[in-house]
Amino acid sequence: MADQTIIRFENVTKQYDQDPAVLNDVSFSIERGRFYTLLGPSGCGKTTILRLIAGFTEPTKGNIYFHEKVMNDVPANKRQVNTVFQDYALFPHLNVFENVAFGLRIKGCKNDEIKRKVLEALRFVNLVGYENREIKEMSGGQRQRVAIARAIVNEPEVILLDEPLSALDLKLRTEMQYELRELQRRLGITFVFVTHDQEEALAMSDEIFVLNEGNIEQSGTPTDIYDEPINRFVADFIGESNIVPGVMKEDYLVQCAGKNFDCVDGGFNRNEQVEIVIRPEDLEITLPDQGKLRMKVDSQLFRGVHYEICGYDQDGNEWLVHSTKKANVGEEIGLYFDPEAIHVMRLGETEEEFDKRLEAYSEATHAD
Ligand SMILES: Nc1ncnc2c1ncn2[C@@H]1O[C@H](COP(=O)(O)OP(=O)(O)OP(=O)(O)O)[C@@H](O)[C@H]1O
Ligand SMILES: [Mg+2]
Repeated sequence: MADQTIIRFENVTKQYDQDPAVLNDVSFSIERGRFYTLLGPSGCGKTTILRLIAGFTEPTKGNIYFHEKVMNDVPANKRQVNTVFQDYALFPHLNVFENVAFGLRIKGCKNDEIKRKVLEALRFVNLVGYENREIKEMSGGQRQRVAIARAIVNEPEVILLDEPLSALDLKLRTEMQYELRELQRRLGITFVFVTHDQEEALAMSDEIFVLNEGNIEQSGTPTDIYDEPINRFVADFIGESNIVPGVMKEDYLVQCAGKNFDCVDGGFNRNEQVEIVIRPEDLEITLPDQGKLRMKVDSQLFRGVHYEICGYDQDGNEWLVHSTKKANVGEEIGLYFDPEAIHVMRLGETEEEFDKRLEAYSEATHAD
């Protein structure tokens, strides 16, 4: 629904000085109450998008709308947005209570109201009782929660979080992922979260924007992006993938390594060159003559819950397999996979073309 849209980027380009643009013609919408993640490698423009939303910088071209009003040059303090920075940027000379109270004091709220709101925010992040602690007496995870309390106490419509978990160790990081997601659900505030960690993005988000060199390569739910990556960059970036050249013989039939395989994809031209993606966990090890492909094992690593087995098929394509079964280096094995495990990608297709093709194809196949 249109009135659920809080923020909209329309063809936004950002360029610093004479340098090449760091964001190219980016368009997307952010809706109320959802958890968004900006995912991409270092330097792809994630922080730049947050800075544009927050009002710390202005677009070079295009428009940024809040509730359908252009906000390009509205200053940060006039936006219903709060940011949690990577280093939390807490005030070391103030205690926990005063850190959280800071924004309310600036707004000139009364003491009673400040006390009520700060305690409510601290309750949300499970830090009641810590009001008088100094920041330096708090752990990394607790500091992060103070930073979140400081953001939510202002009751913003949107909270921006720039890699807030990257400084934490793995265990605490996993706990905080869960807590953040829970908190977002309880508050019902829109979160825009930045990470370069694909597992974190898959675990937390309602919607992910995958960014590369200042472009949104694909946006969608975690399952959309994992199961239907639109191109090599997304397939490679989201989880490990086997990406192998193929030829689409006809709908539901793709050729790869000299063999034809049933698949569930359609809407391609006959004999179109494509790339096929199969996730390592979707490959099953069999005896050589019982698989769909044969592979010579080149290396094997034990990863705790599975073996990571690498090898080459008869055409020289490299395959990565995650299996609970062990193989031997130098041995020939078979690989089996279901038709559903194959995902076919058109070469150089944009997200718009991809969506159109899927839509046209599903209409055509549902028409009869
Ligand atoms: N103030 C600035 N002046 C000039 N170039 C800048 C400025 N800020 C960012 N950039 C450039 O813009 C590009 C995108 O930067 P940005 O900080 O958005 O990346 P990022 O995706 O957040 O990366 P990281 O994961 O490393 O934080 C980079 O090439 C960066 O060097
Ligand atoms: Mg950044």
